[in-house]
Amino acid sequence: MPLLKAALTLLASVFLHIVAVCSQDVLTSGNAGPWPLGNVYGLKQSAGGFHISERDRIIWSASLPFIGASAGHDQLVGSGGALNITQIDNAVCQGQNVSSISTVELEQAVDQTAVQLTGSLLECGDASLTYTVVFWVPVDLNDRVAFEIIVSSGDSETPPEKVYLTFDSNPQEDFYGLGAQTLASLKNQSVPVFSREQGVGRGDQPVTEYENSNGTFGGGNSFTTYTAIPSYISTDSNGFYLSVESTALSFFDFTNPHKVTVRYGDLNVSGAFFQASDMFEAIERLTAYTGRMPALPKWVDEGAILGIQGGQAKVEGIVQQSLSIGCPVAAVWLQDWSGTHSQTGPWTNISRLWWNWENDEDLYPEWSTFVQGLRSEDGVRTLSYVNTFLANVSTKPDGYRRNLYAEADRLHYFVQNSTTNSTAIISSGPGLDAGIIDLTNPQLREWFDEIMKTQVWNFANISGYMSDFGEYTPVTPETVLANVTTDALVFHSYYPYLWAQYQRELVESLGLQEEALIFHRSAAMGSNRYMNLFWVGDQNVDWGINDGIKSVVSIMAHMGISGYSQQHSDIGGYTDVLTYSGFNLTRSPELLGRWGELAAVSSAVFRSHEGNIPGVNAQFYSNSSTYHYYGYNARMFVSLAPYRQRILATESATKGWPLLRPAVLYHSTDTEARKISYESFYLGPSLYVAPVLDPQTFEVDVYLPDKACEYTHVWTGVSYNGGQRVKVAAPYGKPAVFLVGGKWLPELQSFLLFVEQENGASLSID
Ligand SMILES: *[C@@H]1O[C@H](CO)[C@@H](O)[C@H](O)[C@H]1NC(C)=O
Ligand SMILES: *[C@@H]1O[C@H](CO)[C@@H](O)[C@H](O)[C@H]1NC(C)=O
Ligand SMILES: *[C@@H]1O[C@H](CO)[C@@H](O)[C@H](O)[C@H]1NC(C)=O
Ligand SMILES: *[C@@H]1O[C@H](CO)[C@@H](O)[C@H](O)[C@H]1NC(C)=O
Ligand SMILES: *[C@@H]1O[C@H](CO)[C@@H](O)[C@H](O)[C@H]1NC(C)=O
Ligand SMILES: *[C@@H]1O[C@H](CO)[C@@H](O)[C@H](O)[C@H]1NC(C)=O
Ligand SMILES: *[C@@H]1O[C@H](CO)[C@@H](O)[C@H](O)[C@H]1NC(C)=O
Ligand SMILES: *[C@@H]1O[C@H](CO)[C@@H](O)[C@H](O)[C@H]1NC(C)=O
Ligand SMILES: *[C@@H]1O[C@H](CO)[C@@H](O)[C@H](O)[C@H]1NC(C)=O
Ligand SMILES: *[C@@H]1O[C@H](CO)[C@@H](O)[C@H](O)[C@H]1NC(C)=O
Ligand SMILES: *[C@@H]1O[C@H](CO)[C@@H](O)[C@H](O)[C@H]1NC(C)=O
Ligand SMILES: *[C@@H]1O[C@H](CO)[C@@H](O)[C@H](O)[C@H]1NC(C)=O
Repeated sequence: MPLLKAALTLLASVFLHIVAVCSQDVLTSGNAGPWPLGNVYGLKQSAGGFHISERDRIIWSASLPFIGASAGHDQLVGSGGALNITQIDNAVCQGQNVSSISTVELEQAVDQTAVQLTGSLLECGDASLTYTVVFWVPVDLNDRVAFEIIVSSGDSETPPEKVYLTFDSNPQEDFYGLGAQTLASLKNQSVPVFSREQGVGRGDQPVTEYENSNGTFGGGNSFTTYTAIPSYISTDSNGFYLSVESTALSFFDFTNPHKVTVRYGDLNVSGAFFQASDMFEAIERLTAYTGRMPALPKWVDEGAILGIQGGQAKVEGIVQQSLSIGCPVAAVWLQDWSGTHSQTGPWTNISRLWWNWENDEDLYPEWSTFVQGLRSEDGVRTLSYVNTFLANVSTKPDGYRRNLYAEADRLHYFVQNSTTNSTAIISSGPGLDAGIIDLTNPQLREWFDEIMKTQVWNFANISGYMSDFGEYTPVTPETVLANVTTDALVFHSYYPYLWAQYQRELVESLGLQEEALIFHRSAAMGSNRYMNLFWVGDQNVDWGINDGIKSVVSIMAHMGISGYSQQHSDIGGYTDVLTYSGFNLTRSPELLGRWGELAAVSSAVFRSHEGNIPGVNAQFYSNSSTYHYYGYNARMFVSLAPYRQRILATESATKGWPLLRPAVLYHSTDTEARKISYESFYLGPSLYVAPVLDPQTFEVDVYLPDKACEYTHVWTGVSYNGGQRVKVAAPYGKPAVFLVGGKWLPELQSFLLFVEQENGASLSID
């Protein structure tokens, strides 16, 4: 298995081997071009700048200076994965000149021909720098223009660290994508692309202020996210992305109404851009580069995945009870299979996991027979949990068979700290000191493969796991990885790619592609080809816009535009917060019920989570009302299975189109549709959904785009014309779902039958 393929790609110089064919001095020759790029594209000089055309249409333009650089090292302050970034821009270049434009030979370009610009960046503090920009049309993806920029540091006393690329936008162009974002359009924002803890609150109050108050940045802000991806698609159907290899910290700055600036934290950067016919076609082009998500196993559509903790007897009881009340159960997800660990918090303890991949003898003493029993007797699969860490289990009260941390620490298989010449220790709170497995080290991979095979996969008949974390590799200079020569900050956001790739290759080596469900929260440019499910991370157990139930929709919307078609969330949310400061976040039965409705009509998989303090939360198994509401939602999810399968097979697998589609994708010129972040969305082409995402709310006020469209409310049969806002009733169990006129598919039959049969159901939250 070519385990190091990706790591080595990163090491390999992205510098293009080019040979000048003909060269012109632009300023004296007066030659404005065009310099052809393949058959249909060409670069042309224009007043004060350049543009690139596709046939007769200008798809990209920029005026001088469009390349820049600055010195200074960005500051990243915080602990563990929760880092606050302060941009440092010293010796910012004030201008750019162009010394030559030439046609050069480039193997991976159509016609083996690229166009190269060289010149100087002027007045960068006391120095000037030189740069090279190469444009070409890739042989394998000839519907776009690729670029590479290299700035040479010269002998400046303040060496540059960042490169800027600035090009034209128009004030009406709105931007979507860039990974797990929560605003609607990203126009007017400067969006950091950096993988880190998303924070608890992210702006929702009072929790964010509380979490940020001790200087650790635990609350984050609206741009802290596990998954940021350097790609966007605009309402002008412009697509832009940085290459998989361009992993450094970047900022996509949309604050200038007339420009886009990409600020990249290294001196070589490559990527591509294109102008598609519409936003969907743009997603197709983007995912032709990134790859598309592998198919989900069929069994996910059989029912709910019950997130339970607490040991064999408890799990067995809840499975039986669920089945008996008519809740279809596809699987149980037992994240505590390796044991739990209490961390003291205000009022009560927080439940954490022991990161040592073997079954806990107290909770799951007969792990493999237990898992097989659920499977054979109840048709219920089991999912477990792994992550990128190993924690020292020497103090685990009920013991362990192998202390994987101690082994990896001794063998230097963790990301290393050159100051101590040992493991770079990550603390995840008291008693949870861990190392990060160094996936660039082939010996680690061999060792970890053996553990994953003998202790995780072959030990019990499981069907997958949550594949947690990926955001924690340190960014300071003493960080050492086995096979990485770039600095730790440039490498950092690449780790999630390696982690997803590792997990997928493992599944393939075991021949389990049709069975395994592996879900990640941390992703990077191009990692979608290695994951069959994305989970939108840890939300608070509340109704918040930035970090509660509402953020589930907005994150799925932007992730979909970033090429992640199959997604889901923790039903009920994850993060409880108990404080002595006059507020707590704990999960109400109503939130759990509405979150289940949302999952049923938005997600590829239906899975609940108990939360980090299970005892203070409403659980689906709390009482008869919660059981029934959950079972109802699970049946609604199952009823949509044929429809989801059709979309995933015909549109996602082949074109990368997401299951959940923000309205802007269909209505890119509609200014109302552009402003929607969570209020409504399309599920495939035929359903338009306005979920209830507020407490004690039994009516939704929903914008229906496009007056040429007709929307039929499934629960009442009432039809509405688009181009207006309407109010519809939305009692428990009835999120506003509309059939979109004319376009609906026969695969919706089972959902419509569900609606007919359950229309009289009455659900409660008592
Ligand atoms: C950047 O390009 C230079 C050639 O100009 C090359 O030597 C260097 O290895 C490249 N760096 C990276 C990180 O690819
Ligand atoms: C994060 O950094 C920004 C920019 O330096 C600063 O204004 C802000 O106060 C910091 N936030 C926290 C919570 O430390
Ligand atoms: C660009 O600027 C550099 C540095 O000032 C200078 O040496 C060079 O001659 C300039 N080139 C052109 C074409 O003006
Ligand atoms: C961006 O700012 C302009 C000017 O203030 C405003 O008209 C536009 O609505 C803003 N767009 C977004 C998405 O915030
Ligand atoms: C304060 O800092 C510690 C880390 O030193 C962190 O574990 C804790 O969650 C932070 N936040 C609050 C609100 O105490
Ligand atoms: C809370 O955790 C501590 C260890 O951190 C443990 O000593 C204590 O027994 C726990 N309390 C409860 C109520 O579980
Ligand atoms: C897992 O269980 C299924 C259903 O009982 C069975 O068909 C399959 O062979 C088992 N797989 C392994 C590896 O034991
Ligand atoms: C694990 O923790 C124990 C107890 O704190 C400590 O004695 C031991 O040195 C640790 N092991 C490693 C490899 O750090
Ligand atoms: C670092 O530790 C390793 C393994 O213990 C040892 O072989 C090596 O000499 C140490 N390096 C330094 C610089 O101390
Ligand atoms: C490396 O160890 C030093 C000394 O203990 C510590 O100050 C530093 O934070 C560590 N860095 C990393 C990345 O672990
Ligand atoms: C780096 O990768 C190469 C190629 O796979 C391998 O031979 C070498 O052992 C690796 N280096 C380290 C330090 O693991
Ligand atoms: C927070 O929860 C604790 C523990 O359940 C409780 O004692 C306290 O009164 C709650 N605080 C508020 C403001 O509700």
